[in-house]
Amino acid sequence: MSKNNQPSTWTKTSYRSKIALQQPNWPDKEHYERVLTTLASLPPLVFAGEIRELKARLAQAVRGEAFLLQGGDCSEEFARCTAPNIRETLKVLLQMAVILTYAGNKPVVKVGRIAGQYAKPRSSDTELVNGLEMPSYRGDMANSAEPELSARTPDPERLLQGYHMSAATMNLLRAFTRGGFGSLHRVQAWNQEFVKQSPMGRSYERMAKQISNALKFMDTIGIATDSPQLKEAQFFTSHEALFLGYEEAMTREDSVDGGWYDCSAHMLWIGDRTRQIDGAHVEFLSGVHNPLGMKVGPHYDTDTILAVIERLNPANESGRMTLITRFGANAIEKHLPPLLRAVKRAGLNVLWTCDPMHANTFSSESGHKTRDFENILSELRCFFELNWAEGTIPGGVHFELTGDDVTECIGGARQLSPDQLGLRYLTTCDPRLNAEQSLEMAFQIAEMIRS
Ligand code: TRP
Ligand code: MN
Repeated sequence: MSKNNQPSTWTKTSYRSKIALQQPNWPDKEHYERVLTTLASLPPLVFAGEIRELKARLAQAVRGEAFLLQGGDCSEEFARCTAPNIRETLKVLLQMAVILTYAGNKPVVKVGRIAGQYAKPRSSDTELVNGLEMPSYRGDMANSAEPELSARTPDPERLLQGYHMSAATMNLLRAFTRGGFGSLHRVQAWNQEFVKQSPMGRSYERMAKQISNALKFMDTIGIATDSPQLKEAQFFTSHEALFLGYEEAMTREDSVDGGWYDCSAHMLWIGDRTRQIDGAHVEFLSGVHNPLGMKVGPHYDTDTILAVIERLNPANESGRMTLITRFGANAIEKHLPPLLRAVKRAGLNVLWTCDPMHANTFSSESGHKTRDFENILSELRCFFELNWAEGTIPGGVHFELTGDDVTECIGGARQLSPDQLGLRYLTTCDPRLNAEQSLEMAFQIAEMIRS
């Protein structure tokens, strides 16, 4: 072991001798390696110091002193990498964070699924489109969703394009969060017109007014309200660490501390399908110091989960591991408690979070892939209750959402019905909560975390 608890055999390429599932089949290997060399020479997107800061914030959440809000698109798309889209997603996450902080009495660690969420795992390498077999769409960083053989052929130039899109997104996020847009003086201004008309928009408006009044009062009695604490929002990025070549190329040694950091995002997560203990993903992530998420679905094996956590976090450092459970409203009661108990018994420090989206997906009669607000809320409620019953701490949530007024998930205060799904169904991947449904969810969670 080195001083940072890395197995001494780890290098940023040691994963290459292991089996890597879910990788695009790059037709031209030389081209692929050339792109990775270019990527490795480009500037990092985030810095080691920021990554360490996030880890410290997550360690607070492990102790119940903060709460993790992680969310964004299922998969980002190059064509939607625009200022309005980035702004709206950030806006709804900030609104949710303010609700959770104000109504839930807990500081919120804000982590977007953004600025790099361009790679998707698929159940099959190829699919039949109009009788023609072609590679499955694996996210904009690999190929295009267009059902043409040429468009579906993985192109390494897309890794570079993805890097540049992520850099542009990151730049705007930094500008928004540091340059005044994320200021608590703007809580009222974040409320979108279409949301204002709704019950949730009105609840939000009331809360925002109270915060504005409090700030005005502080101002009146001479307390400075221009401190960075009020004027700047702390915001972090994350994505699934799926395409290992890209992650390898973005991995840099910290000039201050000497450890390795994957500088493509602050936090990375490992999927339910790629967390094999002897696989390439676990090998790669074991050596970088970023906070790691791990998705756990209903087919998990307890001993394997424990072994993978120990492999990824041998020093049992708090804030390093976040478990993102996704069991479904109907199955969480069966699957979560044994996991909570086993991890607790083993004395492992993890942050318990709930992804109430992924195991609650179904097809509507119209053929739209959708999720029901009620099921999402119900899985969340169970998540809190089951943690309380076991004496563990429910420390965060993981959502697929957008600031847009989409119609992708049914239910919520406005009772979006299945036959309305076609109105504004924009996702090319999984259905997301819209802005109004997201605020409603935040108010519900706030009730849970304050109790
Ligand atoms: N700086 C604090 C934070 O980021 C408070 C804050 C400023 C904030 N702007 C915010 C909190 C927007 C939530 C949303 O947590
Ligand atoms: Mn998804």
